This record gives sequence, C-alpha cells and structure tokens, in this order.
Amino acid sequence: MNSTACVLFDTPQQARHWLQQQHHNNRSIGFVPTMGALHDGHLSLVKQARKDNEIVCVSIFVNPLQFNNPDDLDKYPRDFDLDVKMLETVGCDMVFTGTLETFFPEIHDLSKIPLEDPGAFAQGLEGEFRPGHFDGVKTIVKRLFETVGNCKAYFGTKDFQQTLVIKSLAQEMGYPEIIVCPTQREVNGLAMSSRNQLLTAEQKQIAGKIFQALTKARAAWQQGQRDASRLKHLMLEELDHPAVDVEYVELRDPQAWHSQSQASLLKNPPQALIAASIGGVRLIDNAFLGEEFS
Ligand code: PAF
Repeated sequence: MNSTACVLFDTPQQARHWLQQQHHNNRSIGFVPTMGALHDGHLSLVKQARKDNEIVCVSIFVNPLQFNNPDDLDKYPRDFDLDVKMLETVGCDMVFTGTLETFFPEIHDLSKIPLEDPGAFAQGLEGEFRPGHFDGVKTIVKRLFETVGNCKAYFGTKDFQQTLVIKSLAQEMGYPEIIVCPTQREVNGLAMSSRNQLLTAEQKQIAGKIFQALTKARAAWQQGQRDASRLKHLMLEELDHPAVDVEYVELRDPQAWHSQSQASLLKNPPQALIAASIGGVRLIDNAFLGEEFS
C-alpha cells in the first residue's frame, strides 16, 4: 500500500502551532483521538476523516486519568512506531502525542489535575463499573479539542456511552462536530479493540459470544419480543460460559438514556450494551436492536 510520511509532534503545544497554521489557511480538519495500539477500527475512523476533510490528524496518548485500575493501565498495549506506520498507509497528515505534564503545563502537582464532571450520560454502566473513568475521558478530550480547535472529531460506536459524554462536551464547548462511525468487527463478530491483543486465540473465539448475544437480542426484538427481562435473559444465556465474567447486560433508550431494565415492556427499540471480562481482559460492545449491524 502507498504511504506518505506524516508530521510527528511530541507535545500538544507543537501540534497546536501547526494546526493554527492549517486553520489560518482555512483547511478543514478531521481529528481522531486515540490511545494507540491501533487496529482496523481506528483506521476506519481515519479513512472517514480523510474523505471528509483536507487535513487529518490523530492523537496517541494512553491517558492515565481514565484508568481506575493501575494494572489495566500497565497492561494497555503500546507500540507508537507501528501505529505511525499504520497511520501513514491511510493518509494521516499529522500525529501528536504528549505526557500529562505537557497536556497540563499549568498544573504543577499532577495528582491535582482538576477533573471535569462528565454529566448525566456518565451514570451507570461504564460510569458505575469504572468509577472516575468518564471524568478522566472528558478531561483529556476537552484538552485535545482545545489543542486541535474547530474540526470534525471521529469516534467509534463500540464506546457508545463515551460518544454520549463526548457529544455533550462538544455541545458545552461549542465545537467540534462529532462524527460517530460503525464498530469494526473480527470475522467472528468480536468488536475490534486494542484490548483484543491481550486475548489468546481461544479466548478470542469465546469473546465472539458477546456479538452472538447482541445478535440474538436483535433477532428477538425483530421477531416482536418487547419484554426487557426476556431480552436480557437471552443475552445472559448466550454469555453463560465458565471463561466469561459478565459485568453488565443492559438495555437503554439511546435518546433518553434512562435505564429500561425496570420497564417490563419496551416501546422503542433499545440499545443493548454488554461488558464482560474474558481471561481478565475487559471487553465492551453494544447494538441498536432496531436495525441491522452496520
Ligand atoms: O476511546 C479512546 O480511545 C479514549 O477514551 C480517548 C477518546 C482517546 C480519550 O483518551
């Protein structure tokens, strides 16, 4: 595949300076924030950004503020050089990274970085099982948006709740435009995730059950099943395997976002959301039951 070298910056300040030139020249900017360990899911976001914009930039920063579990942060895969090579194959123009020190130069004691309140969308699900996670996500993403300025910013549907938190941040800030792109999947349906690298081949096969559970719920919805507890039960049945440790299986109205688990009969098609660990690797996925997987 053809690839063109992209410009690399080690600090957000350098990136900001370069981006200001692009804004000055009225270039439209597409931005894909990442934590590296890139896969085809990330590349699909970059490809979409490439189609929509004149300039494409990507940030790579494993943000310690969003890890409530230090072990998870240590285990998080990192390969900056490989990431840059992959980005060059899909026409990325600029990559920047940084450290907590360079993202928050005004804070002298890094243990005292003031965290953003992630708001109502952060309640429950990831917000409940990873306390403080969305505070850390919102804090870094706000800083990333301030670095890049007005742009289109691309996120994957796999992190559905994150997209809601980030859309509300963008509304508060008045920019950027948030574009949510479909989840990319492995052949067995497993949602692509940097964490999949931590699974053995056998665990990856088992992890396909998460997609199977969502597929079953969607099929049941489409055949007229409206009973929330029945739909949840179907998913839990599919996930019932000694290697699968389920954290939550939930149904939510994707617009109203209130938990529908108590309502016995659903009126509107819900978003089904699952978090489960396999071999200690935490995976999430979701699907809107009202339509086909894209
Ligand atoms: O989705 C992610 O990779 C991260 O949460 C993000 C948006 C890059 C913030 O660190």
